[in-house]
Amino acid sequence: MKILVTGGAGYIGSVTTEQLISQGHDVVVFDNLYQGHRAAVHPKAIFVKGDLAIKSEIAAAISSHRPEAVMHFAAYSLVGESMQKPFKYLHENTTNGLNLMEAMLEHDVKKFILSSTANLFDKPERMPISEDERIIPGSPYGESKQIMERALHWLEKTHGMTYACLRYFNAAGASTERGEDHTPELHLIPLVLQVALGQRQHISVFGDDYPTPDGTCVRDYIHIYDLAQAHILALEALDNGSRTYNLGNGQGFSVKDVIETARKITGHAIPAHMAPRRAGDPATLVAASDKIRRELGWQPRFPGLEDIISTAWTWHQKNPKGYDDRTSSQG
Ligand SMILES: NC(=O)c1ccc[n+]([C@@H]2O[C@H](COP(=O)([O-])OP(=O)(O)OC[C@H]3O[C@@H](n4cnc5c(N)ncnc54)[C@H](O)[C@@H]3O)[C@@H](O)[C@H]2O)c1
Repeated sequence: MKILVTGGAGYIGSVTTEQLISQGHDVVVFDNLYQGHRAAVHPKAIFVKGDLAIKSEIAAAISSHRPEAVMHFAAYSLVGESMQKPFKYLHENTTNGLNLMEAMLEHDVKKFILSSTANLFDKPERMPISEDERIIPGSPYGESKQIMERALHWLEKTHGMTYACLRYFNAAGASTERGEDHTPELHLIPLVLQVALGQRQHISVFGDDYPTPDGTCVRDYIHIYDLAQAHILALEALDNGSRTYNLGNGQGFSVKDVIETARKITGHAIPAHMAPRRAGDPATLVAASDKIRRELGWQPRFPGLEDIISTAWTWHQKNPKGYDDRTSSQG
């Protein structure tokens, strides 16, 4: 299959591209390098530098490369930033996604995989969070993903689009060649590993008085490889209809678990400083994945925290400055 991957120079998109290519698919990466890295794009993928905000650019990419399906990773994805700059999310994230969907339908491309988020569930009544949970987005970021999900729902009815929405929390870990390099970096595992690399003095732990076993927040970490596989399985299942899955590792890990495991793997003391709770951080967030396991046979290959952190550590040791393209990646 020929697949267009928006955001294929970013963290999850680049590893999914790598997996698609290793499984015999052809990939066209469409990315404006706002956050991604040219060096992260698999050498066998066709790279198109383009911006979803400019509809003619995505329309031209679809018209010249004629993909059969699209995986849509390209988005702004910082919950905190979305509370400061809601229009960047409510307006730009949604307009960019709609530009993509419109260009696809104009060229009769009707298979869509969406990177959605468990930030759709701000006040879950049950943990782990299943697909039946009531949607209450936790931020303008989450709201922008819900709008994408609703757009797909309507485009299926009006135009026969088939889609899969995959809702996940914390992608983590690395492949041999590709890893996590965001600017700014706000994810716990790379921040902890920056301490181990001597790039930061300590890690801050925001709150240790939550109602969790060790008092620190519990989160769901899913290995990037397993996440990529879920995207590929969902794509292959589209011929049997649209679908929506919550996607989690099946177990949560606390902030202290992450720091302890990273100490063991890196051999570094990783000093941790306690800090007050941050507003809006729920105690526990874990997504259920029973439905995707049952329907698609998805099985995480790296469910353990040790595997997740050791693959990330191997990549960060090999690439201590990440892709080392800070100035060009921001253009
Ligand atoms: N990282 C996570 O833990 C996580 C969790 C849940 C959901 N998601 C979702 O998964 C997707 C990928 O996340 P990621 O961590 O790989 O992000 P990322 O920032 O590493 O990758 C996003 C890519 O999209 C590109 N991009 C952004 N705006 C664009 C535009 N207008 N036109 C073209 N390209 C554009 C960026 O340059 C970047 O390469 C996002 O949609 C995010 O919301 C991520």
